[in-house]
Amino acid sequence: MVPVITIDGPASSGKGTVAKLLAKELGFHYLESGAIYRALGLWVYRNYGDTSVGESQVVDLVSTMLLEFTDLGVILGGENVTDALREEFVGMLASKYGSIPEVRARLLQFQRDFAKEPGLVTDGRDMGSVVFPAAKLKVFLTASAEKRAERRYKQLQLFNKSVTIEAILQDIIARDEQDSNRSTAPLSYDSSFKVLDNSDLTIEETIAVISKWYQKS
Ligand code: DC
Repeated sequence: MVPVITIDGPASSGKGTVAKLLAKELGFHYLESGAIYRALGLWVYRNYGDTSVGESQVVDLVSTMLLEFTDLGVILGGENVTDALREEFVGMLASKYGSIPEVRARLLQFQRDFAKEPGLVTDGRDMGSVVFPAAKLKVFLTASAEKRAERRYKQLQLFNKSVTIEAILQDIIARDEQDSNRSTAPLSYDSSFKVLDNSDLTIEETIAVISKWYQKS
């Protein structure tokens, strides 16, 4: 069986950076599942703008979404949308439409197809609980909401985005709430997961802990 490492956790827990670097270290493939949901959010927005969209319209759009992960970035319908996907409102839309059960069902096989030799590291909300329940190592990576807001604030400052740390904290709390309380595939973990709170750890220290777990798994 192809070895899979899943890293799930709340927004800005560092899971993306950690998963990507760990994949590089192990020579494994990498899948950022959040980018799929973000791409869907953007795709719905591009098709309907600010008008309210029904669940069945969103579900229909899943099959028209041409999404590719390339060395140049994420390509949606032929356009490189890597930067657009990082927008705060796109994250909120991803969280909103990701709560539709039929959307998740339709994206399941697309995600599973990323598990190829020599292995896969993937991050998201339900990668260990739903998409790859039999993964070799399942990690739940978290940090306090305040620490996560601080990290996101620093990241956004690099892009000269004018936001306040309070607004980010409110967004993070709202998204945690939405992702944890939805009925299908909520952000959660059980005893088959290894839990790591990295509030006081650097990225390198976080990777070292997970690498050690993987070697022992
Ligand atoms: O990981 P992220 O912050 O880029 O994810 C954006 C949103 O996408 C997140 O708030 C909820 C949704 N998502 C999901 O429902 N399931 C996943 N496996 C990954 C992301």
